[in-house]
Formats: sequence, structure tokens, C-alpha cells
Amino acid sequence: MSVRKKTAILISGNGSNMAALVAAAQAPDYPAEIALVICNVPGAGGIARAQSLGVPVKVISHKEFDSRENFDAAVDAALRDAQIELICEAGFMRIHSAWFAERWEGQILNIHPSLLPAFPGIRVHEQVLAAGENESGCTVHFLTPELDSGPIVLQAKVPVLPGDTKETLAARVQIEEHKIYPEALKLVASGNVSLKDGKAIFV
Ligand code: GRF
Repeated sequence: MSVRKKTAILISGNGSNMAALVAAAQAPDYPAEIALVICNVPGAGGIARAQSLGVPVKVISHKEFDSRENFDAAVDAALRDAQIELICEAGFMRIHSAWFAERWEGQILNIHPSLLPAFPGIRVHEQVLAAGENESGCTVHFLTPELDSGPIVLQAKVPVLPGDTKETLAARVQIEEHKIYPEALKLVASGNVSLKDGKAIFV
């Protein structure tokens, strides 16, 4: 049996992508095991969700640290304690210090609810609707120090429909997120995609 990559998921909220990754990793041939969930928001819905799925959860509140660097150092220590090899950020609402992103380069993925490079940042669905787009989607990318701009691993598209609100559009996008994130982690954990010289290389 091949060795599965020890993976952590970083969340701040609901954890629906986390749950999708945990579900996928239950397949015996999946190349990653979800060994740890870290949440920076005490009481976030994703904490109980991870516990109910039987995944170890660590709550590290950013509010207890006096700087971004010190918070990232605590997250980094928890990841190293658990011998984590890959990280999936799934609705993790903190920007990392550059050293953290550099230290984990090639081993850290993020999911964003737009077709990057379009609509980086926050309030994505509002922006997509305001711009009158007829298509949106989601992107899994390698995390780099520049926000929402790392090399893309996978994307999925959805239509923007007449009468859409940010909630209906978000729900349609999330259905696709829950498919592409497990697929993207599988590609990276199996070595079929890797980051080299700032590019996502597919073998
Ligand atoms: C997702 O839409 C993701 O793209 C964005 O934050 C949301 C997290 O949702 N980065 P959940 O916590 O996984 O339900």
C-alpha cells in the first residue's frame, strides 16, 4: 500500500469543503489522509463538524496573538507537531505572512469561489453579479504569498442565472467546490501535479 500524505485543513467557518475532503479521503485508494483540522475562529460551525467526522481539531484563535507572524508561528508549530505534509485552506479567512507561504510552498492549496484570476479577494459573488457576468465558478490553486494568485490546479464553471442572488450563486458554486477540491488534493498528493519554478506542472 502506498503511503498517504498527511494533510491538514485550515478553516474559519462552516467547513463544507473540509467535510468534502474528509469524505473523499475515506476511499482506501485516496492518496491523502486528513490528519488535522485547524480553525482560527472559536465556535465556528466547522469545528463540531470535524469532530463529528472523527478528525482531530485544533482551535488557534488569531485574536490571542499580537501579530500575524506569531499566529502563523503557532499554526506552523501545530502542523509540524502533527507531521503534516500538505495543507488545504478551505474558507480560511486569514492572510499568511510571506514566510509561512514560502515555507509551505508547493504543499499548500487554497480554494476560491471565482474563476481566478477574475474576482480575487472577498465579496466575490456580489462582485460577479454586479459585473453582469454570465458565468462564474471556483478555483483550486497553490497558495503563494500574493493573495489568490498562485498557479491553478483545477477550475470548474457554473452559469450565472437570471434572478441569482449571492446566496443562490454561492450555493451553485459550492456544489462544484466540493467536487474539485478532493480532485485537486488527489492530484497533488499523488504527485501528478506539483509546483515547479512558480508553475503548476501536470505529469
Ligand atoms: C468557500 O466558498 C470557499 O471558496 C471560500 O470560502 C468558502 C468556504 O466554505 N474560500 P466552507 O467553509 O467550506 O463551507
